[in-house]
Amino acid sequence: MHSMFPPTTDAHPFKTSHHPTKTIMTTTHAANTITPEEVKLSRSVEQLVTGVPTSDGAGVKLTRVITNNLQRRLDPYLMLDAFGSDDPDDYIAGFPNHPHRGFETVTYMITGRMRHNDSHGHEGILQNGGVQWMTAGRGIVHSELPEQEKGRMEGFQLWLNLPARDKMIEPGYRDIQNDQIPELHLDNGITVRIVAGHSHGREGAVQRPITAPLYLDVHFSSVATFCQTLPRTANAFIYVYRGSVSIGGKTVPQQHMAILGNGPQDDGVVIESQGPAKVLLIAGQPLHEPIAQYGPFVMNTQQELVQAVTDFQEGRL
Ligand code: CO
Repeated sequence: MHSMFPPTTDAHPFKTSHHPTKTIMTTTHAANTITPEEVKLSRSVEQLVTGVPTSDGAGVKLTRVITNNLQRRLDPYLMLDAFGSDDPDDYIAGFPNHPHRGFETVTYMITGRMRHNDSHGHEGILQNGGVQWMTAGRGIVHSELPEQEKGRMEGFQLWLNLPARDKMIEPGYRDIQNDQIPELHLDNGITVRIVAGHSHGREGAVQRPITAPLYLDVHFSSVATFCQTLPRTANAFIYVYRGSVSIGGKTVPQQHMAILGNGPQDDGVVIESQGPAKVLLIAGQPLHEPIAQYGPFVMNTQQELVQAVTDFQEGRL
């Protein structure tokens, strides 16, 4: 159920790292390698966003946190959906076969089990704490269906754009199980799960060219302060899914996204918790390219969208 890339992985630009298991990551040896993140001036909260309740797939209830009108502001991110329910009626229908082209989907399962199948013959299960990082590239048709009939299903799906030069690359994906995600345990009781990018001198599970995504899941066990340096040019946001935090004195309540400003002197972000809290911190380098979207296809021009629809209808994805 892991590393399900097609045999031509060499041609795929996915750079993956192989980390020791979580048990080894928590030893003092690993703790010695933690490099503090020094932030002189934190970014501030530019805007709080609650998202829009909607449903997708065959009727899965979710909250669309990054909607189309925020695509330019949060370039290279195109969409963020948050889902979380104890009621099977909200998720049981799942996402039957549907296509994608031109970007990447990152699905982070906090709780629950989802099975995915795609047109390239791959299949895997995503569960509790695992991530599926899928590069749709020139095209994929897949399904994402719950592998449970009761209990809680909670997680996030983030869409990350691909640069124009990479929109038609070979599709591929990685299933990153919970114990393959590097975790930092800081002295102040904060745990940082590094899905992508780097934090405190540690490399995350995934590195991507051009957009250089940072994807952290930061868990505060009590009142504490978390610092993360960020490149000035990167667009960044946080999403609070447990408790609440503050940035520069501004409270970010549970189930809110805060878009972080790009102040010219800002060199990172300082996040303070008032108690136990869980926060996604996501950043990436903007592409500054035209965005043309038609549902699950995200290209640069209308003509490329027409081509995508034709290719899908004629079975070429
Ligand atoms: Co999909």
